[in-house]
Amino acid sequence: MKINIAPSILAADWGKFREEVEQVVDAGADWIHIDVMDGQFVPPITFGPDLVKALRKSVSVPLDVHLMIENPENQVAAFRDAGADVITVHQEVCPHLHRVLQSIRDSGAKAGVAINPSTPVSSIADLTESIDLLCIMSVNPGWGGQSFINKSLGKIKEARELLGESTDIEVDGGVNADLASKIISAGANVLVAGTAVFGKENYQEAMLSLRK
Ligand code: DX5
Ligand code: ZN
Repeated sequence: MKINIAPSILAADWGKFREEVEQVVDAGADWIHIDVMDGQFVPPITFGPDLVKALRKSVSVPLDVHLMIENPENQVAAFRDAGADVITVHQEVCPHLHRVLQSIRDSGAKAGVAINPSTPVSSIADLTESIDLLCIMSVNPGWGGQSFINKSLGKIKEARELLGESTDIEVDGGVNADLASKIISAGANVLVAGTAVFGKENYQEAMLSLRK
């Protein structure tokens, strides 16, 4: 499977998102990961659809929107209209997950589900046909710069066995150049990286060392 690296703009310089995103795409980013937080599901508050809209004008790579918010079903249309290509909701806040995934697909975006470190892969076993992307959180959501939780490697393997090759498996949190090969061998094909890209001086070198 093609490996996609998705730098997370959470770790970018917030004073100049457009330049940051353009630079990282020039450096070889496959997707751009946008962490939306509402101050409820997770304590911080970050971005809304208007930022997605602004970035959509600057770059043509897929925009991967990770909704760390309650009631995400109310925001699907706004993020899709803004230009999101992948919309990921958290399993933990969706009692009607099947319906939410359906509405994301109906909007024309890829439907993603994220699971926290404490949420088992088996929680989505009955929905495999409705999921285009499973995001395995390898840190507790809310902040960049945390350490990768090693147990996540087993969850990636389990997820790949469950989902087969037609579903993207994304890993989010604490991904760095030392861990990338283990994460890919376990079965992931989308690597989110905040600190490991935007935290470095040279984005091209950061992307290359992740890819190696
Ligand atoms: C955490 C976010 C991540 C975060 C990853 O809640 O979902 O996308 O930006 O940052 P790093 O790569 O620094 O762990
Ligand atoms: Zn994220």
